[in-house]
Amino acid sequence: MRFKKSSGSLELGECSRNPGFQDAEGDGSAPDAVSVEPAEKPQDGAEAYTQIKPYAGMPKEVLLLHSSRARYRVPREVLFWLTVACTLALVALTVTVIALSPRCLSWWQASPVYQLYPRSFKDSDGDGVGDLRGIKEQLNHFLYLNIKSVWISPFYRSPMKDFGYDVEDFRDIDPLFGTMQDFEELLAEMHNKGLKLIMDFIPNHTSDRHRWFNLSRLRDPHYEDFYVWTDCSATGPKPNNWVSVFGNSSWTYDEVRGQCYLHQFLKEQPDLNFRNPLVHQEMTDVIRFWLEKGVDGFRMDAVKHILEAAHLRDEPQVDSSKPPESVTTEWDLFHDYTYSQVGLHDLLRDWRAELDAYSREPGRYRFMVTESYDYQEIEKTMLYYGTRLVKESDFPFNFYLLDIPQNTSGSWVQHLVHLWMSNMPKGKWPNWVIGNHDKPRIASSVGPLYTRVLNMLLLTLPGTPTTYYGEEIGMENINVTQSEIQDPAGKYNASASRDPQRSPMQWSSDMNAGFNNQTNITWLPLHPDYASVNVEAQKKEEGSVLAQYRFLNTLRQSELALHRGWFCYIHTDARVFSYLRELDGLNAAFLMVLNFGKESAVTDLSSVRELPDQMTVLMSTSQVSNGKVVQKSRIPTEAGEGLVIQYYTSTRFNPNHPKQCYISEKACYLGVMDILYKC
Ligand code: GLC
Ligand code: MG
Repeated sequence: MRFKKSSGSLELGECSRNPGFQDAEGDGSAPDAVSVEPAEKPQDGAEAYTQIKPYAGMPKEVLLLHSSRARYRVPREVLFWLTVACTLALVALTVTVIALSPRCLSWWQASPVYQLYPRSFKDSDGDGVGDLRGIKEQLNHFLYLNIKSVWISPFYRSPMKDFGYDVEDFRDIDPLFGTMQDFEELLAEMHNKGLKLIMDFIPNHTSDRHRWFNLSRLRDPHYEDFYVWTDCSATGPKPNNWVSVFGNSSWTYDEVRGQCYLHQFLKEQPDLNFRNPLVHQEMTDVIRFWLEKGVDGFRMDAVKHILEAAHLRDEPQVDSSKPPESVTTEWDLFHDYTYSQVGLHDLLRDWRAELDAYSREPGRYRFMVTESYDYQEIEKTMLYYGTRLVKESDFPFNFYLLDIPQNTSGSWVQHLVHLWMSNMPKGKWPNWVIGNHDKPRIASSVGPLYTRVLNMLLLTLPGTPTTYYGEEIGMENINVTQSEIQDPAGKYNASASRDPQRSPMQWSSDMNAGFNNQTNITWLPLHPDYASVNVEAQKKEEGSVLAQYRFLNTLRQSELALHRGWFCYIHTDARVFSYLRELDGLNAAFLMVLNFGKESAVTDLSSVRELPDQMTVLMSTSQVSNGKVVQKSRIPTEAGEGLVIQYYTSTRFNPNHPKQCYISEKACYLGVMDILYKC
């Protein structure tokens, strides 16, 4: 910029030097032409000074005079309205993007839920029983598997009559598992690694060693009605014909109080009385206690048992001709008065609201899953999803795939999958369980031939897969002799023992399978196959059960079509169950062909015109077909083999076959912008 001399004043473009300008830093006298005409080239600092000052000092009148000129006013107004228009457009765009974006998947939808039984996962101190420090040592296993959500079965202080499901103190850790500090360190470390911790919450009962029970049997006025008490005598008949899940009467006489108390499980697990609001309050406080500590969710144990009919009438017998004294098992009665009573869902919704109150921080959603075996009454299970207006659990566990061993075949598996999909309320999120600490390991009941295809099914169906520890390496049941039985259910009826599926995790071929390496004791025997079936060996082996689990889980999480796309039935017969996953707008889709039969099969899908004639096998559980190109009219599979076939097409299957397809929340993919939108 250059100054130009003009009749005693300086001009810069349109600006004239103001003769009345008072220089605050100068001597206060009005400058004259001579004083502003530099006699010689000014110093650098002086030049900067003269560049600023002519504007800074303009009085209002002069500024207004210039600013109202059209050449300033018009651009200014144009700029102003442009800014307003841009701001409005930005707001409108933001609102549109928000309104058009489908909901993001939450952490409990994005990853499988891995259940670990703390007694059996990893023993850090060599006492033969797994513990919290042991779990902390093994957290990288979850990162390796790409698993984010871990449910740990109970570790509360407990006399261990039902291995932790008999709680003596809901606010303490059992010394066998460690200390509260160990828990806090475990949780902090899990959160550091991006893992979520789900705890068991056991509302139906406490241990008979719980403080509340001791005070209740002493008729302490506050605790008197904390449990379900009724009159009976030590030797007389029981108050009614109700039976415990573990067998025999669900009533036990208590010498101290001189009455009978109800227990739907062991006599050492008295049922809490939820008709007493104080009990509800206490249990809500327990939830808050753990939420405050930072846990990410709860698996609500045995919820259908929470309430019983107050009238205590006999339940109807399944076989009315059976002599009443021989009615001793759960299966002998219709549980009209002890299961799923009115009021149960109100309690759960209340707890859900509690979790919601702690879910407000971004990324801190607290999850709830309910455990209820409703067998033929699937509509009862679906009630745990809540209603359109009132939320309950994020999902109730889907135990129906546990029935696969009853008739391992393509059509049976399809039937079990469809049972859930066709009964699930619209828009809800499915989930799949193939094993847990209460049920025999599926690899043993269906046979190891099907281990891999079961994991493939689990990880390619829509919704959240649940993996019981060891399923990722194909662990099987152990044999437990009569004298070795630890499980109370097994002591009542050896065939109902749950010990076989609770054996120590097989980490390596070292001593005790790496479960512990300090002593030779393990609370249950190890499976003898651990020398080959273990994490360390399978990490090195290409195509191992573990490698396939990891591959499929990673694929599931990286492919939109697999984690949030449509699920459509394609074909079912006695051997093969075939379905596809696709997303509108996305050309990549996946076809699964799973052979649950006893023999090999060649599947002809030529009638499915949406499929291309030739497709490439992305992954085969038996590996031989990996990368092979198959004709859609001839897709070969061996018994127990599963294929994930990836193909590309712009012709989607779901629009033409709406009755064969399901989706929880529809979304479409916009390729040009690489985004999802509601459609
Ligand atoms: C649930 C648990 C089971 C336990 C029972 C009683 O069903 O899964 O292991 O024995 O509740 O708490
Ligand atoms: Mg230990």
